[in-house]
Amino acid sequence: MPTLGVNIDHVATVRQARMTNEPDPIWAATLAELGGADGITLHLREDRRHIQERDLHLLSQTVAVKLNLELACSKDVLAIACEARPYQATLVPERREEVTTEGGLDVAAQPERVKDAVAQLQDAGIVVSLFLDPDSAQIEAGVNAGASAIELHTGAYASASAKFSAEAERETLERMAREIHSAGLILHAGHGLTYRNVQPVADIPHMCELNIGHSIISRAIMVGLEQAVRDMKRLVT
Ligand code: PXP
Repeated sequence: MPTLGVNIDHVATVRQARMTNEPDPIWAATLAELGGADGITLHLREDRRHIQERDLHLLSQTVAVKLNLELACSKDVLAIACEARPYQATLVPERREEVTTEGGLDVAAQPERVKDAVAQLQDAGIVVSLFLDPDSAQIEAGVNAGASAIELHTGAYASASAKFSAEAERETLERMAREIHSAGLILHAGHGLTYRNVQPVADIPHMCELNIGHSIISRAIMVGLEQAVRDMKRLVT
């Protein structure tokens, strides 16, 4: 039964649209916890388009469940993470022009850089996860980088329109999940998951954690965040 990490970046996106102080992601984290979130996820991007350092520092002090910080393998943000010391850090790729995290981290292309980032975070006492495409070469490189967990990128599954191609993508996820589990790593998944497509991913054997943002925050606009989290939690557990 996977746990649910609620990504609150989109709350900060609305705030930054007006460069004001509302809505506050700190309030959102509290409401998500009340709705049953097992974790709060946030991405401190290098361009600071949504989450700010202030949010990370306050959330580090206030979140009672698992705090999961997504970050790129870059010097500045790694130093901030080591100082804030969230429970978990998930290394992701970052491109300024992307709308959201578009692909997994290419560990195979930069093994030393990722390995160093993993070691730096682990030395600060942080559990490290890598956000990877469901691809054997990436998973092997991720295992070699020394991380404790791998978050499988579910974007291809989520955007597959025909039923048969979604099933094929799910089978790929399940195969990669087996590889991750047999290598002794913890299995996470996320990206593009919604109330409609989440259950087959939640049912993948050994799935430990799902990180979901856009769909929950979208529903929250209609029904409130606590209710939106409660609805998602019911589907994944
Ligand atoms: N996991 C990771 C590593 C991500 O970068 C994101 C998007 O920020 C998510 C999960 C959540 O994706 P979504 O907002 O599509 O649910």
